[in-house]
Amino acid sequence: MEVVIVPDAAAGGELVAEAMAALLRRKPDALLGVATGSTPLPVYEALARKVRSGEADASRARVAQLDEYVGLPAGHPESYRSVVLREVVEPLGVSPDSFIGPDGAADDIVAACAAYDAALAAAGGVDLQLLGIGTDGHIGFNEPCSSLASRTRIKTLTERTRIDNARFFGGDIDQVPRHVITQGIGTILEARHLVLLATGEGKAEAVAQAVEGPVAAVVPASALQLHPHATVVVDEAAASKLKLAAYFRATYAAKPDWQGL
Ligand code: GLP
Repeated sequence: MEVVIVPDAAAGGELVAEAMAALLRRKPDALLGVATGSTPLPVYEALARKVRSGEADASRARVAQLDEYVGLPAGHPESYRSVVLREVVEPLGVSPDSFIGPDGAADDIVAACAAYDAALAAAGGVDLQLLGIGTDGHIGFNEPCSSLASRTRIKTLTERTRIDNARFFGGDIDQVPRHVITQGIGTILEARHLVLLATGEGKAEAVAQAVEGPVAAVVPASALQLHPHATVVVDEAAASKLKLAAYFRATYAAKPDWQGL
């Protein structure tokens, strides 16, 4: 995998937004897989700026959700469907008809998970999947010990993740759902390009384990090592525990411009 160390979160947002803009120039109806959480917000802001300035055209882009809480009422502001509509679909001017995600309010969750995997396949697969990383090494909501071959399914959140995400629910962990639907690790690995973005000291340990540790279900993000085109973009703080940081910097500095991410 390629590891790119950027000075700060804004630079990471700009770099990943440019990769998305370049993809949309090559393939205007590309399917962008988007993540939630705080980390990707600078990407969406940078891409929306490019759309407004005419540098990027997302009018034919399609957007796919990575994961979803189970049991939040339709339209709840913290459902990931609401978040992606608010932070990605609307600012980019993507048609809501071009947005797919799992139904966390379905009566039959098992059927909803299978339907989402089928919808991703019918859409031709994700072209670029943006990922964050949990402090426990999760991607999507694949918590530690998720099968590396898993498909979209229901998962139970760890206490750690519910504490981390309580800030979106007024700081009240009791408001954070216990169950979620997430694309499985096997599902995520089918995207053509994976881009994991991590910023801040709090992610340094998880990043080091994912990039330099063994491939292991206990660190779900380590599954990126199995993907032929995986890019890890980290700011200085999130890179602070990487033993090979000097090598990663030298490699990226010597990379031909035409290659992109
Ligand atoms: C949630 C999401 C993940 C995200 C993670 C980290 O659990 N399901 O997709 O990567 O949070 O979020 P943040 O970027 O806010 O640290």
